[in-house]
Amino acid sequence: MPINTIVGQAATGDNFYNRPKLINDIWRIIKSGSNLLLVAPRRVGKTSILYYLQDNPEENFNPLYLITESVNDENEFFRKLYGHVFELLDGIDKFSQRIKNLVGKNKISEISKNGLKIEGADLNYYDALVKLFEVLDLDGSKLIIMIDEFPETVENIKRDNNEIDALRFLQKNRELRHSTVVKEKVQFIYAGSIGLENVVSKINASSTIDDLHSFNVPPFTKKEARELISEMILKDSEMGIKEQQIDFLFEKIEWLIPFYIQLILDETYKLYSYEELNEVTNEVIERAIDKSIQHKLYFDLWLSRLKTSFKGDEFSFVKAVLNYASEHDTITSAKIYDYAEGLNITDMYKDIVNTLVYDGYINNSDDPKIYRFNSPILKRWWYKYVAN
Ligand SMILES: Nc1ncnc2c1ncn2[C@@H]1O[C@H](COP(=O)(O)OP(=O)(O)OP(=O)(O)O)[C@@H](O)[C@H]1O
Ligand SMILES: [Mg+2]
Repeated sequence: MPINTIVGQAATGDNFYNRPKLINDIWRIIKSGSNLLLVAPRRVGKTSILYYLQDNPEENFNPLYLITESVNDENEFFRKLYGHVFELLDGIDKFSQRIKNLVGKNKISEISKNGLKIEGADLNYYDALVKLFEVLDLDGSKLIIMIDEFPETVENIKRDNNEIDALRFLQKNRELRHSTVVKEKVQFIYAGSIGLENVVSKINASSTIDDLHSFNVPPFTKKEARELISEMILKDSEMGIKEQQIDFLFEKIEWLIPFYIQLILDETYKLYSYEELNEVTNEVIERAIDKSIQHKLYFDLWLSRLKTSFKGDEFSFVKAVLNYASEHDTITSAKIYDYAEGLNITDMYKDIVNTLVYDGYINNSDDPKIYRFNSPILKRWWYKYVAN
């Protein structure tokens, strides 16, 4: 049998390696009544976790997943949310009359999951949503609304409108979380690949999210990564990998996020089967890594993310820092400051560096003054395809 990998899409079902302690911890926080902010760099497995929560809810909880990546407008956000909640209501007929009554004298021309159409008026979906929550009857169970790529929505609003609108959007979300009717029936989980805390601090709006319980999703431990490989990926496969080669692989990946493990093993298997190999050696793994970083699609995400978040001199700064770190293995905070000074962005370069840390590009965990790529894989890709 071939190996069992999933590369790119969120891992679900047989492909999802469960981390029960982490999942239990999330439920524990939900049960305490908190709203959560799931924080983790790109590709650590946030969306997969949200899908798992949705597919395996605890009793008396109804998780509802939605992704708002492309939304760039407050009313559009609440309309989307409205549509998803509406779908939960069993049957339009039963509710249409009640909603008509609630909306009042306006003439409704359409009621559907896409929203309400009211003749001659643009509906305020925030208000409509609150009213929908009022009629929402979940028999005492709670709705868990999981919003993926939420920070991106905030950034979109800031980019396509302005900071004030982004701030207002965050305030509206906070207001929603704290309104009496919502508190009783609904809790929220926000997730996203760009650090919400950084996005929010850039526009001085930290108080709009200070009620969220921030929950960090760590990379895999070696034990988890070993289990993912032996019990899921290679479980029924004719391809075996010896302990020594797995250690070699871990050394190369260093930052054990499941995405790299899946991607590299996928490439390893291709080499193994196409070349009809009998065993997986270090040399095979090396070549699989080279093949892995040739996937423009997977790695371009890391670059395009930065291109959308940073413009002009900010982007030049990011590129300079990462280029240097990809070439010299590390970069000192003094060198980073030099680049910031050269580009006249000393007032805000720290926020940018924080975003890079937060999003999983670089870290200074070993020494506060020295930054390095989290992952030699990403470093290798950056060096080969971006810096040179
Ligand atoms: N629990 C898991 N078990 C197995 N593989 C996983 C798991 N979580 C993530 N992966 C691997 O990582 C990849 C990315 O997962 P996912 O999309 O959930 O991450 P993400 O944090 O939402 O990424 P992004 O920040 O890009 O949205 C998946 O395609 C899969 O290869
Ligand atoms: Mg995701």
